[in-house]
Amino acid sequence: MDPFSLQNKVILITGASSGIGRSCSVECSRRGADLILIGRNHDELMKTASLLDPKSKVEVVTEDITQTDNLETMIARNVLILGKISGFIHCAGIEKTLPLKKHSSALYRDIFEINVIAGFEIAKILSLKKYKDETASFVFIASVAGMVGEPGKAAYSASKGAVISGARSLAMELCRSNIRVNSISPAMINTPILEKMFEDIGEDASLEITREHPLGIGNPEDVAYACVFLLSDASKWITGTNIVVDGGYSAH
Ligand SMILES: NC(=O)c1ccc[n+]([C@@H]2O[C@H](COP(=O)([O-])OP(=O)(O)OC[C@H]3O[C@@H](n4cnc5c(N)ncnc54)[C@H](OP(=O)(O)O)[C@@H]3O)[C@@H](O)[C@H]2O)c1
Repeated sequence: MDPFSLQNKVILITGASSGIGRSCSVECSRRGADLILIGRNHDELMKTASLLDPKSKVEVVTEDITQTDNLETMIARNVLILGKISGFIHCAGIEKTLPLKKHSSALYRDIFEINVIAGFEIAKILSLKKYKDETASFVFIASVAGMVGEPGKAAYSASKGAVISGARSLAMELCRSNIRVNSISPAMINTPILEKMFEDIGEDASLEITREHPLGIGNPEDVAYACVFLLSDASKWITGTNIVVDGGYSAH
């Protein structure tokens, strides 16, 4: 059996309606996984579903995952349809680049609710025996902003630092349930989040950031390939780590 295969695995992906989450969905499907795709925009989720290998079984869930009271019912329903879950990618997230004086407590709360809390709440539910397969792998999409400083990113960086360190602690706690937990820290990837950020910071700052990436701006599949590796048995001895996928950005 190819250790990189995702055959016979059910993988739940948040943020599957766009960008990196859409690419993760496509790459997981190519390697044989069945998928639960989650986001708020139904049409965009259906677009992702249309890009998948027809052999993959797919369930589309249109839901705001910051409404954490609904998460267990949603997961239980999908486990009944597709079977127990062996992979989870938390890709849903929001980004804001704003000077510190424009950071409000509501902004910190909004960012943490989706980037951190929703992902950890889903991980908690998926770690229950009734929902998880014999072994499982959870992958949190963090960011290099959680490792290195960037102006205007206090709330976003704090949330991504929390994802990296929280994932490490989950790895220590969940290893006894045969669950591996890792994070991936991308630098700038060409998706709608990046387009919005470049709009916010203007052309000069955008060009400067682009130049800071020795291999240029990345593409969603660069992150998706790392996800496929972490979800597959090829990484069966890897847990509690943070894989940096950044075109060399954090190497200077
Ligand atoms: N692009 C980059 O340069 C970059 C770099 C480093 C890290 N990242 C991280 O990578 C992840 C994906 O980013 P992306 O670039 O692919 O962004 P994107 O294209 O804007 O996608 C964000 C996804 O999050 C989902 N989402 C947001 N709030 C949600 C909510 N309350 N409930 C359910 N789904 C929600 C969106 O779905 P709906 O709109 O359908 O709700 C969308 O699918 C994020 O965590 C981001 O911080 C991105």
